[in-house]
Amino acid sequence: MSLATIELAGVAKRFGAQVAVQGIDLSLQEGGCVGLVGHNGAGKSTLIKLMLGLLRPSAGTVRVLGEDPTGGASVRARREIGYLPDNVAFHPSMTGAETIGFYARLKREAPARGRALLQQVGLDEAARRRVGTYSKGMRQRLGFAQALLGHPRALLLDEPTTGLDPEFRLRFFGILADMRRAGTSVLLSSHALAELEGAVDRIVVIDHGRKLADGDIATLRAEAGLVPRLRASLANGQLPGWQQVAPGVFETSCPEPDILAFLKALPDKAGSVEILRPALDEVYAAILQGPQQNRGLGPSCAARFRVTAPAGPGESPGLRCRELHL
Ligand SMILES: Nc1ncnc2c1ncn2[C@@H]1O[C@H](COP(=O)(O)OP(=O)(O)OP(=O)(O)O)[C@@H](O)[C@H]1O
Ligand SMILES: [Mg+2]
Repeated sequence: MSLATIELAGVAKRFGAQVAVQGIDLSLQEGGCVGLVGHNGAGKSTLIKLMLGLLRPSAGTVRVLGEDPTGGASVRARREIGYLPDNVAFHPSMTGAETIGFYARLKREAPARGRALLQQVGLDEAARRRVGTYSKGMRQRLGFAQALLGHPRALLLDEPTTGLDPEFRLRFFGILADMRRAGTSVLLSSHALAELEGAVDRIVVIDHGRKLADGDIATLRAEAGLVPRLRASLANGQLPGWQQVAPGVFETSCPEPDILAFLKALPDKAGSVEILRPALDEVYAAILQGPQQNRGLGPSCAARFRVTAPAGPGESPGLRCRELHL
């Protein structure tokens, strides 16, 4: 059975009258990956700093690798944590190689490991240039390489994808997958739920310091209560009970479990039918808005069906030609 690397129970953090986080329960297992999603000021960085022991909770308990990160016994545990801060800042007059070498010494790593990490994040050619000349994405890559030093058992990454180009973003999630296979737990924060699909196994949505949702993407979709819409194109005629949204185009809402039965029951005059599932950004917005039932929304995730003629009198039309647009 995998072990809990990070455990928060009833955690709150206040700065004077300002409540930054409250009532947070969160656990992360060995090899697990959690995406912490929330708007500006939601409490993401505060939670990460609580896990690092940079902040002390006002209430509740924080355990990282079995230790209280603010306690004296946490020194060993802290060496096994990799951290990428949200505003990564390095000395501008040091080169990339000097910078990673400096952090390698702090983490008691051989210099060769630093060089290998620079290569892994695509900075080998820029290694001899001063960090002050690096682009935003290059600084972010250097920060990521720094966080990977010391073979961490827990990786805490605060908005790690900021400034990364799409190609490196893919490589970044690939490196995280390799780390996870070796048992490292990963927690990363982001403003965009959509970029985390397929890359994390759980999403925690926080808003005004409170946890609003915690689960995989399918759970979040279900919790958002958004109902897919069906859009049918018709050369002529009407579809009773459907709303006409353009000449020859009709839409209706349909709960996910009923879609197939709904499609099979369609008259064959409905030439093609698209299923419009809510996009993840809409799921996120709906979770932030709070629970509502049967919301029908947005066309960003679609599956297209063509309805074939009935095989014989009295039979329902068949379904053919499925294209997925995700
Ligand atoms: N040292 C501090 N003193 C006072 N208030 C603070 C302090 N640090 C954070 N806060 C407040 O706590 C709340 C949560 O801030 P936090 O930085 O955790 O948000 P965040 O989710 O990381 O936001 P962002 O997406 O902008 O990085 C905010 O209202 C912020 O102003
Ligand atoms: Mg932050």
